[in-house]
Amino acid sequence: MNAFICAEKVRFHYDNRADMLSGPVLDDIDLNIERGEFVAILGHNGSGKSTLAKHFNAMLLPSGGRVLVSGRDTADQNELYEIRRMVGMVLQNPDNQIVSTIVEEDVAFGPENLGVEPSEIRRRVDEALKAVGMLEYREHAPHKLSGGQKQRVAIAGVLAMQPECIVLDEPTSMLDPQGRKEVLDTISRLNRERGITIVLITHFMEEAVLADRVVVLENGRILLQGHPREVFSDIERLRQVGLDVPQPAELCHQLRRAGVPLPEDVLTAEECVEALSLLLEESYAGN
Ligand SMILES: Nc1ncnc2c1ncn2[C@@H]1O[C@H](COP(=O)(O)OP(=O)(O)OP(=O)(O)O)[C@@H](O)[C@H]1O
Ligand SMILES: [Mg+2]
Repeated sequence: MNAFICAEKVRFHYDNRADMLSGPVLDDIDLNIERGEFVAILGHNGSGKSTLAKHFNAMLLPSGGRVLVSGRDTADQNELYEIRRMVGMVLQNPDNQIVSTIVEEDVAFGPENLGVEPSEIRRRVDEALKAVGMLEYREHAPHKLSGGQKQRVAIAGVLAMQPECIVLDEPTSMLDPQGRKEVLDTISRLNRERGITIVLITHFMEEAVLADRVVVLENGRILLQGHPREVFSDIERLRQVGLDVPQPAELCHQLRRAGVPLPEDVLTAEECVEALSLLLEESYAGN
């Protein structure tokens, strides 16, 4: 079966940009995102992440090549409505996504625009708020919520449109650690339990570790992609393009360079602790 999102030889330049001098913003991007997949997109500032994300729900159309969403060409005006329903977007700043003074009205906004009938809207709003753990706040004022709670309401607003995919463009970059955890837990759960396809743009490496696949953009091209374990073991290459690696991977890398025999594919704090304890046990046993 075809992938859910297919970007084929996508090239893009903003009309007001002197591409003759600097090259296109997206250059020859071939990328397939499967149904139910969780893909993280990394890349330093200006590498083209947001531009690419906007191609996934036809907010931008390719200057060359094409993007298909569930087989529908994003350049086809007749498909626009269905593509926007299937692929929901959550942006960086939660305050820019609030449209109402009451949480449940905010979540109802999307399905209302789709012309869904009121009883069905009620059902969807409750269900979406429950899915993000915000049902008890349904009558609250969104602007009084924490950043993490606001982002969860934004996710509920997208969920109420019954999307197949949610694209999140740095959704946690304005949140505190608690808010980041709430949002990440919510995204992971929606992916795992409901099979919703997730495209997460992030500059937090420990968030990218949770994905099935990491795609690294550099200068509008795909530089690297693969399982997080694979991508994050290429530490030198990531450094060259100004990216960090998750801290546990960095620590093991430094220790390996100092001669400590640790595995190359450590990603999480738990794996790091495990590898170090094993090593300590072995060295005690050896003495
Ligand atoms: N509306 C626009 N008009 C002209 N150029 C733009 C526009 N938006 C982005 N660009 C340029 O396109 C390039 C890619 O930008 P984009 O926002 O996609 O990068 P990004 O990887 O999302 O960066 P960041 O990490 O800062 O969010 C940059 O050089 C940027 O200056
Ligand atoms: Mg961006």
